Amino acid sequence: MKLGFIGAGALTSAIVTGLKSVDGDPVSVVLSPRNAEVAANLASRYPNIRVAADNQAVLDDCDTVMLAVRPQNAGQVLTELKFRRDHHLISLIATLSHEEITGLTAPASRVTKALPMPMIARRLGATIIYPPDPDVSALFGGLGKVIEVESSSEFDALSVVTATYATYFKYLDTIHRWLKAHDVPDTKGRDYIAALFMALGHAPETAPDADFTHLAQDYATRGGINEQVLNELAARNVFDALAESLDGVHRRISAAGAT
Ligand SMILES: NC(=O)c1ccc[n+]([C@@H]2O[C@H](COP(=O)([O-])OP(=O)(O)OC[C@H]3O[C@@H](n4cnc5c(N)ncnc54)[C@H](OP(=O)(O)O)[C@@H]3O)[C@@H](O)[C@H]2O)c1
Repeated sequence: MKLGFIGAGALTSAIVTGLKSVDGDPVSVVLSPRNAEVAANLASRYPNIRVAADNQAVLDDCDTVMLAVRPQNAGQVLTELKFRRDHHLISLIATLSHEEITGLTAPASRVTKALPMPMIARRLGATIIYPPDPDVSALFGGLGKVIEVESSSEFDALSVVTATYATYFKYLDTIHRWLKAHDVPDTKGRDYIAALFMALGHAPETAPDADFTHLAQDYATRGGINEQVLNELAARNVFDALAESLDGVHRRISAAGAT
C-alpha cells in the first residue's frame, strides 16, 4: 500500500513511526515537504519513505492520503489542491467536520475522519473512525484499538475524552507532590505511582463486564481509605465540576464542527 500525507508534523510523525514498526513494513509512505525537518528525519530513519516536491505531488502519486495540517491552515491548503474522484482521504483535522472536508476536497468521494493520538507511535491507544470504513479500520487496527462510529455527533462526544489527559497527569502530579512533601524521594514516588496506575489501567480489560461505577465500588472498601477520598472529593463536587468541563469542551467541539 502507498500512503500519502499532506502535512508532516507531530501526528504524521507518530503514525509513520507506528506504521514502520509493523512486521513486514507493508506501507510505503509519501510525505509532503513541510515541515522539512520532520519529513527529512522520517525519510532518514525508515525505508520506503519519499518526500514529494509539493502537496499536489503527494495527491498525484497516492490513492489514499491523510490530511494532517493544522485546522487553521486547512482551508487554504486544501482549496489550492486538485483532488480526484477516486482519492480516499483520511482527515485527521480534529475540528473540521466530515461535511467541511468533503466540501473542501471535491470531487473526492470517499472521505473518512480519524482521530488517532500520539501514542499510536508505540501502537497504543485508540483511533476513532467516522464513517466506518474497513480499509481505514484495517490500517489503524494494526496500530492500536479502533472505535468505529456511526454519526458525527458520536464522533464529537468521543472526542471530548481526549481533553482529559492533562487533568489525569495533574491528578498524578498532586499525589506525587504530596509524597515529596512527606519526604518520599522523587524517583521512588514517581515509580510507585506510575506502576500502580499502569496496573489500574488494565482493570477494565481484566474485568470486561464491570462498568466504571462498579470498578470504583470494588476499590472503595466500606469504611476504607479509598472510600474516604472518593466521598470527600464527591462532597466537594469535584466530579460534577469535571462533567461540567466536559460539557464545555463538547460545546466547543460541536460549534467548531458546525462552522
Ligand atoms: N497532535 C495530536 O495529538 C493530534 C491529535 C488528534 C488530531 N490532531 C490533528 O492532526 C492535525 C495535525 O496535528 P499535528 O499535531 O501533527 O500538528 P503539527 O505538528 O503542527 O503539524 C502540522 C504540519 O502541517 C505543516 N504545514 C503547514 N502548512 C502547510 C502547507 N501549506 N502544506 C503542507 N503542510 C503544511 C506544518 O509545517 P510547519 O511546521 O512548517 O508549519 C506541520 O508540519 C491537526 O489538524 C490536529 O487537529 C492532532
